[in-house]
Amino acid sequence: MADGTKDQASSNQMWGGRFASGPDAIMEEINASIGFDKKLYAQDIRGSIAHATMLAKQGIISAEDKDKIVEGLNTILSEIQEGRFEFSRKLEDIHMNIEARLATLIGPAAGRLHTARSRNDQVALDFRLWVKEELAKNEAMLSDLIAALLNKAEEHADTVMPGFTHLQTAQPVTFGHHCMAYVEMFGRDRARVRHAIDHLDESPIGAAALAGTGFAIDRHMTAQALGFREPTRNSIDTVSDRDFALEFLSVAAICAVHLSRFAEEIVIWSTPQFGFIRLSDAFSTGSSIMPQKKNPDAAELVRAKTGRINGSLVALLTVMKGLPLAYSKDMQEDKEQVFDAAENLELALAAMAGMVRDMTVRTDRMRAAAGSGYSTATDLADWLVREAGLPFRDAHHVTGRAVAMAEEKACDLADLSLSDLQSIHASITEKVFDVLSVDASVASRVSFGGTAPSEVRKQIAWWRSRN
Ligand code: ARG
Repeated sequence: MADGTKDQASSNQMWGGRFASGPDAIMEEINASIGFDKKLYAQDIRGSIAHATMLAKQGIISAEDKDKIVEGLNTILSEIQEGRFEFSRKLEDIHMNIEARLATLIGPAAGRLHTARSRNDQVALDFRLWVKEELAKNEAMLSDLIAALLNKAEEHADTVMPGFTHLQTAQPVTFGHHCMAYVEMFGRDRARVRHAIDHLDESPIGAAALAGTGFAIDRHMTAQALGFREPTRNSIDTVSDRDFALEFLSVAAICAVHLSRFAEEIVIWSTPQFGFIRLSDAFSTGSSIMPQKKNPDAAELVRAKTGRINGSLVALLTVMKGLPLAYSKDMQEDKEQVFDAAENLELALAAMAGMVRDMTVRTDRMRAAAGSGYSTATDLADWLVREAGLPFRDAHHVTGRAVAMAEEKACDLADLSLSDLQSIHASITEKVFDVLSVDASVASRVSFGGTAPSEVRKQIAWWRSRN
């Protein structure tokens, strides 16, 4: 800090009375979290203002001291926002950096701020507030991605494409229906985000070190001031709980898995062999040596981000495993995992929404592929059940022979002649050709949640009213 707070800090740690000399360099290096927890400055200041206001209202500190504290904290907020604040590693973390600066700014009144609180409930508060804000951002970004998918789905409710199982052509579906599968996934992710917000919506401040405090604080007042539903109910759990961080990471990991599956499909679809979509230049790159290439880098990176996001979840689960109650310094390792996952999930969500909006769908290529690979074989079998009264197993067998014949003649099912088909089963009539086309196939699948354009449009409307 420009005015000497740093010097004061190096000779006089905040717990100076207990320790004769400062921590040596290695201790400082392993102990300090300021390098990453400075991200929590706004939440720390908000929390301190709410705490000081409550202390004054309860008559624990004077109104004059509270005013000085609030004014000082607001000054520090501007200093940090304007890049004028000098963070010191000697002061370990964001909480002590801010408190030390407050002492320089307002003098002895600063020492009253930490009445009836500990860094243990302070950090639990700051981090919860941060995660809550991040979850709100995720909710909005998921809604944006869902909106982009709904528009694509609407535009392509009638666009036929092959549906796959085992990545082998299975049955024709519509591209709109395929897009809506991702709407379901991201919709569930958004519901999980909302649950996570609901779970963490309790204020930790006032739990103090672990046992609560003898001061007549009002935890309901601070909870309300900070936008929480209510205060937490057990002070020991409050300072040792990081479920909210783990829930954020779990939600992020599942969402990242969805994003990576979609990214993988985009990579496959944009190959010349598939050619189902064309990515915009904005979300692809060229090759430095092969002039013909257009690489789906953004999709590949979205696919890859899943690795570090899932890794963060496993890392924090492992940190928390076996920790005795209540607070242990191990828990300081929670933040980098959450910050890294948050940053990368945001990027992945933004890139995916951009790719969906910008992609060109090659309906001709999708249609051609939809008809190949005997994709309407099930329709033939269903027809034999419906029109010729065959049991499904027999119909399956007859259809298998029709496929074998088409394979032999190197043509599609719809290209077999009526006499060809009748040589396999006498009851087949001209009407069978009505179901062998891909359009007839998708139009027939009107079961709830099926791929028929009429059904897909219903699902789009359902989601639109909820987005
Ligand atoms: N920097 C610490 C953390 O992130 C703050 C809490 C420190 N509490 C303590 N008792 N040393 O967890």
